[in-house]
Amino acid sequence: MPSVNPPVLLTTPRLNLALLPPDAAARVLAYHEANREHLGPVSPARPDNFFTVTWWRSRLAQDAEDWRRGQALRLFLLSRESSLSAAPVLGSVSLTDIRRGPLQSCEMGFGLDFHHQGQGLMSEAVRAVCDYAFGPLGLHRIQANHLPENQRSAAVLRRVGFSVEGLARELVLIEGRWRDHVLTALVAPQRVGG
Ligand SMILES: CC(C)(COP(=O)(O)OP(=O)(O)OC[C@H]1O[C@@H](n2cnc3c(N)ncnc32)[C@H](O)[C@@H]1OP(=O)(O)O)[C@@H](O)C(=O)NCCC(=O)NCCS
Repeated sequence: MPSVNPPVLLTTPRLNLALLPPDAAARVLAYHEANREHLGPVSPARPDNFFTVTWWRSRLAQDAEDWRRGQALRLFLLSRESSLSAAPVLGSVSLTDIRRGPLQSCEMGFGLDFHHQGQGLMSEAVRAVCDYAFGPLGLHRIQANHLPENQRSAAVLRRVGFSVEGLARELVLIEGRWRDHVLTALVAPQRVGG
């Protein structure tokens, strides 16, 4: 992988998946404000100023830096029906904790605007991100965890080919409680002769 990563833009039939610049902070904040009750109960504890433009400006700048260093890739889902600079944020897919050397693995997380569920958009996005991870990024394994009762998340992962590997006790602090998570993973498809 190059030492300085280029900007990423993946396209699927209905979506652009893009790293957003700091000046898109208001659009990302609008997505999180609209989905406060939808995403909060499944998200790790958030900082006090999470729902501010200031926090998102610095977070998006950090996203660019994390990608430049090859440590994480946080992409936002945008409808292809609008321009990149104007499209509202519909969701996100992140690859974090990218580990090289003998692991070549990462953690995946995702979330979708409440009103855009039930259209297959997240499965479409996750498939494209996994292809990118196993292709240009050269990763071998993608791990994703979900709360045992999060059936919609489990269904997305199953649809894309992830397998359940176990249950991690009290893995993540969510809304003040340590919560068990189902561990799932997808490994790179075998290449003929490799
Ligand atoms: C998890 C989450 C992203 C799943 O969203 P989703 O809309 O159910 O998932 P998809 O976008 O893949 O859509 C699948 C649904 O669309 C339907 N669908 C409609 N048109 C479709 C199409 N063209 N292609 C595929 N599926 C389609 C599928 O049948 C399926 O419906 P079902 O749920 O009734 O079986 C969403 O519920 C969410 O954001 N939850 C909160 C955050 C979260 O839990 N994140 C994961 C933390 S681990």
